[in-house]
Amino acid sequence: MIPVITIDGPSGTGKGTLMQLLAQRLGWHALDSGALYRALAWVALQQGVGLDDALVLTGLAKNLAVEFRQGGVWLNGEDLSEAIRTEEIGLAASRVAAHPQVRAALLDWQRAWARPPGLVADGRDMGTVVFPEAPLKIFLDAAPEVRAERRYKQLNEKGLSASLHQLIVDIRARDARDRSRLTAPLRPAQDAIVIDSSRMSIPEVFERVLAEVRRVLPDALSQ
Ligand code: DC
Repeated sequence: MIPVITIDGPSGTGKGTLMQLLAQRLGWHALDSGALYRALAWVALQQGVGLDDALVLTGLAKNLAVEFRQGGVWLNGEDLSEAIRTEEIGLAASRVAAHPQVRAALLDWQRAWARPPGLVADGRDMGTVVFPEAPLKIFLDAAPEVRAERRYKQLNEKGLSASLHQLIVDIRARDARDRSRLTAPLRPAQDAIVIDSSRMSIPEVFERVLAEVRRVLPDALSQ
């Protein structure tokens, strides 16, 4: 069995950063499953495919040749790392991700990431659907206002303007859709460790998770 650590939760909780830190520390592979749905949404918007057109979207999903290279996200030789990080693509990704057939089409591709020596996988349903046997499951949560504020700062640092109020509205809408969808809704697995990062820094969250790794997968840290 290849060990897998799953990190699920809504956007803006620091899941991605935590995944990278953990994968680096353990020398394991990292899977950013949200990038997959974002890349699919990007292709759909480019090709003018309706975000409710499950049939066509499923066809696109089956042929989606996403690669994680040089720390970025690539599709057909194009570096999409920046292009898929916009709010527009985030909301579109949440819509394409609501179709059960689309999710099914991306399942094998995600599971193939479980390779030696181990995998850290970040998303919404890593612990509940994609890797239900994972020995360590983390569910990272934070209040919507805190997540919106973090996003607001990130956008400002990039020189992009944003409305904090609009970000809160968008985050709530995306959460509601991700949590209420029938297939693989956003929720902690029964055996997940839930961490509320609203008042925690990234290093604090990292230390907390490392303590869990030491407890559940002691060999992973001794290598
Ligand atoms: O993690 P993220 O913000 O990059 O994800 C973008 C959208 O993709 C998110 O709103 C819901 C969807 N998603 C999903 O449904 N399942 C996953 N495992 C990852 C992301």
